[in-house]
Amino acid sequence: MLSVQHLLGIKYLTKEDITTILHTADTFLDVINRPIKKVPSLRDITIVNLFFENSTRTRLSFELAEKRLSADVINFSASSSSVSKGETLVDTVNNILAMKVDMVVMRHPKPGAAHFLSQRVNASIINAGDGAHEHPTQALLDAFTIKRKLGDLAGKKVVIVGDILHSRVALSNIYCLKAMGAEVMVCGPPTLIPRHIGSLGVLVETDLRKALEWCDVANMLRIQLERQDTQYFPSLREYAMLFGVSGSLLKSLSKEITIMHPGPINRGVEITSDVADGNSSIILNQVESGVAVRMAVLYLLAGRTDEKM
Ligand code: CP
Repeated sequence: MLSVQHLLGIKYLTKEDITTILHTADTFLDVINRPIKKVPSLRDITIVNLFFENSTRTRLSFELAEKRLSADVINFSASSSSVSKGETLVDTVNNILAMKVDMVVMRHPKPGAAHFLSQRVNASIINAGDGAHEHPTQALLDAFTIKRKLGDLAGKKVVIVGDILHSRVALSNIYCLKAMGAEVMVCGPPTLIPRHIGSLGVLVETDLRKALEWCDVANMLRIQLERQDTQYFPSLREYAMLFGVSGSLLKSLSKEITIMHPGPINRGVEITSDVADGNSSIILNQVESGVAVRMAVLYLLAGRTDEKM
């Protein structure tokens, strides 16, 4: 069982919680690779996916995870709902819950939205990304994917490269990897690295080659132009030259490293196509892991650990 009722952020999980989720995800990874991919674990549970912000991977992955667990699923998209007529978040969710919904998966552009909701409605809330704050299931699936590729996370060296300032993936990954005993470095233009990031126990490097020589895994973040209120670097071309990973840069390193990216990729900016599609990349493994990890989170939060998977 988890120590929490909601998944609001990795910050609120214990190491034991993370270990339990990753261990449970191992079982579900086997399940989704069987010819019959469905289990009855959440048969009488109804889940709503509330997306107030665009998503491809997270939305589809949650929906698939819910369906693989035999939950009843309803999807809500803010743009086609009564939110556009002025309804508040709490009213919207309470109306949905009145239809006998048990769990809420929510992506919202405002940091803290999932936390706010968890204090006001009677359902288990899962944060699917809240502004530039946290994206807990992304960090869990990233940790799970590293573990699948490299084994135990303790002692592994992971560099997170790029737009750290605007990234919920970076913060959740830092909390998760540090809790599991990995060493973490952030690398990017100084303007995109928060000033006090060192207080989270991470190393800071602005030279990409040095960072790549140090690490076992490089997690390349998307440049989030939609969250940038000012110009943080001169041009995307210059960013790609200084902080993008190309096949020739990878080949010039003294060892092989593993490349990750949470998606969506800006090909030619954070990584070139030969890197994204090459042997070092575990980007599509991350997507596969996402379904297993989200099944584990939903299953554990639903408190159905006594049922057979
Ligand atoms: N990694 C991730 O959150 O992707 P989406 O925005 O497509 O969900």
